[in-house]
Amino acid sequence: MKIATSDYDSFPYPSYTFPQTHPDRLASIGRIHGIEVKDPTRCRMLEIGCGDGSNLLSLAYALPGSEFVGFDLSEKHIARGISAKHHIGIKNIHLFQADALLVDVKALGRFDYIVAHGIFSWVPANVRDRILQIFSECLEESGIGYISYNAYPGCHIREIAAGILKAGSAEVEVPAERVEKGIAFLDAIAAAAESDSLYQKMLRLELEQIRERSDQNVFHDDLADCNFPFYFRDFVSMIEPHGLQFISESDPIASNVSKLSREARALLEGVRTDVIRFEQYIDLITCRRFRSSLVCRTGLSVDYPDSVNDLEGMYLSAQVTTDADEGSLVDGSTVRFEGSKGASFTINHPLTKSIMANLGSIWPAALPFEDLVSEAEIRINGRSAEDESRTRAYLYQLYLGGFVKFGCYSPAFAKTAGELPISSAFARWQISEGLENLTTLAGKNLKTTDPVLRLVISLLDGTRGRDELVEEIFDATDVPDGEREAFLAALPDIVEGQLAQIAAAGLLLK
Ligand SMILES: C[S@@+](CC[C@H](N)C(=O)[O-])C[C@H]1O[C@@H](n2cnc3c(N)ncnc32)[C@H](O)[C@@H]1O
Repeated sequence: MKIATSDYDSFPYPSYTFPQTHPDRLASIGRIHGIEVKDPTRCRMLEIGCGDGSNLLSLAYALPGSEFVGFDLSEKHIARGISAKHHIGIKNIHLFQADALLVDVKALGRFDYIVAHGIFSWVPANVRDRILQIFSECLEESGIGYISYNAYPGCHIREIAAGILKAGSAEVEVPAERVEKGIAFLDAIAAAAESDSLYQKMLRLELEQIRERSDQNVFHDDLADCNFPFYFRDFVSMIEPHGLQFISESDPIASNVSKLSREARALLEGVRTDVIRFEQYIDLITCRRFRSSLVCRTGLSVDYPDSVNDLEGMYLSAQVTTDADEGSLVDGSTVRFEGSKGASFTINHPLTKSIMANLGSIWPAALPFEDLVSEAEIRINGRSAEDESRTRAYLYQLYLGGFVKFGCYSPAFAKTAGELPISSAFARWQISEGLENLTTLAGKNLKTTDPVLRLVISLLDGTRGRDELVEEIFDATDVPDGEREAFLAALPDIVEGQLAQIAAAGLLLK
């Protein structure tokens, strides 16, 4: 049986990259749960339903020692991916058109990491079953799989809005017009609903979220004929017959209960030892609508520690800042750290404070745990073994809070711009495609809308020094006659500032 390709071929999906599918993320989570994972810099990774392959291309570019394979039903998606592969000059990737139902699983071989993002909920049951069969046949013994899907109970609410979108656009053939008509209808229904009622508020919130997404996303998600959300327990029942078990969500914050109410924490405490119930209860309490779950083979033993025991050789990074002076970092006083999205935490443990301050100062670079401890040790004048075990427990809590990231390798990028800087060719391709999000060499997404910054990044192909950059930016910028001289005089500093920003973001090759 062949599934119709026309939907995606006539209205292709945008190019996205997904940091939560990075093999380093999957490897680190695997390690935290006691699995002996494959080094992400020397791995094989498969993506099922890879769209135009942007996600895999960004990974293949940043991890040249690994091998990436992706297939997708849409010919248009794959043609776009192959063209990008040649344009950027990436060799360690194979993208091909195939239907998951018909793909030759034996020919695919085995993989350390397998990803199915944005496909599982949007295909019929036979394709879902086949996807799980591919995981089961192709995952290495201690491989890690990633599957994302729409979840209940949150999707019950989404389904109400989707039903209205569909009712208002059923007659329209052209995808973009269908989205426009559907949204206008949802707007009208929300306005007509009883004023200030719970129902009206709910529809308005849904409308707000729908408006933030691309037309393609709304078309292929909310307006899709195939859109099957699952309760977590049903997802688990689907994977088990394929010899697979749940490990954790790809985002540790998703299972962090510290921000939930006292009542929620009390309820969850009662099921803490039963991971499936624990996760299902979180979904019910938070009305979760999307999941990205990591899975592995049933035979593996999966630990759920309170601390990170296996930190040896792990790289840590943290986007945090603090106003604390050197003295308060090494004594017993309480110090406040701020994370990237305004969230904060306080800590009074000298070894941990010192490590966090160090990580904040070198962000986005990462350092091995051992180095962090020995550097902090010098600053705090020695430590006890008990200190280090407390630090491991604190770091685990900070990881669950999203403040600390664990990695299995240190991404390679230049921390300062040399004479002839070279930016990531993948990011330059993203700019040439008009994409706002640029993928850094550490696999993070960086929203970049400043046209001068985008121009500087796209000029950094290793052939231009500061003078050439200033000259080209001056020629390309529309400046009123009276301001040209002042602009030219200020440009060298502007360019230097931009180069520092580009390096700090992890976009420059070493
Ligand atoms: C929502 S898009 C997601 C693409 C990409 N993974 C992402 O998240 O950006 C779903 C993708 O699944 C692909 N797809 C649907 N059915 C498929 C099948 N039977 N075999 C392979 N790919 C399929 C579609 O062509 C489409 O590219």
